[in-house]
Amino acid sequence: MNRQPQPRYDALSQIFHWVTAIVVTIAFILGPGGFGRLMRQGVDPATRSDIVWHESLGILVLALTLLRLVWLALRPAAPRIEMAGWMHLGSKLMHLALWALLLALPVTALLTLGGEGHPLTLLGGVRVDRMPLIAESGIAKLADWGEVHGFLGDAIMWLAGLHAAAALFHQWVLKDGVLATMLPWGGRR
Ligand code: HEM
Ligand code: HEM
Repeated sequence: MNRQPQPRYDALSQIFHWVTAIVVTIAFILGPGGFGRLMRQGVDPATRSDIVWHESLGILVLALTLLRLVWLALRPAAPRIEMAGWMHLGSKLMHLALWALLLALPVTALLTLGGEGHPLTLLGGVRVDRMPLIAESGIAKLADWGEVHGFLGDAIMWLAGLHAAAALFHQWVLKDGVLATMLPWGGRR
């Protein structure tokens, strides 16, 4: 494997990036508001397509993120573009926060469902009624994980918006080719 910095991210890293960005955005739009109320009313979440799609897309994000982390260890070195030190540090911190949220979102969702005894309901009729390991763990009782999950869902969209705005600033103002590193066709410099 070539570990020298490449002019662009490799094709697989680009696919992971854009598919994840699209799936996270759709999952956010489908975020089930009033979930607690529906559960108290005895509604079966499997009958609600927004919940089933939201949970399925969220689990897809988890699977993509775990595979992507494996690829991160194996792939060619990421591109290195000349920029001020503080800007480079800022982009690294932003990546770290986005990676952390990509993992924390599904984890807090599973803590919500398992801790409150609600089923995980996915497309294709897949259903996990009980998650005893989570239900019996102390962590499930440490916080209102539904609240935390909703807050982190908002946070990832704000940070991704900032991250996208920075990429467009690099493209249109600094014209340093940062956006092109994540585009299959290289983009305009
Ligand atoms: C990329 C991943 C995800 C994002 C961006 C996301 C975003 C959100 C947001 C913003 C809400 C709050 C909606 C509102 O109050 O209007 C929410 C609620 C919820 N999400 Fe997710 N979510 C993700 C992954 C998941 C996964 C993987 C699951 C299930 C395993 C899940 C299950 C839930 C549930 C059950 C609620 C209701 C929580 C409650 O109110 O107690 N989410 N999500
Ligand atoms: C939910 C949405 C998004 C998430 C979670 C996300 C996350 C990430 C992550 C984790 C990386 C590091 C990739 C790696 O090392 O393989 C990255 C890089 C990148 N992203 Fe995003 N991204 C999102 C949306 C966007 C959007 C909308 C744009 C452009 C308008 C964009 C432009 C870029 C660029 C140009 C890079 C490489 C340059 C760099 O930041 O170092 N991203 N993104």
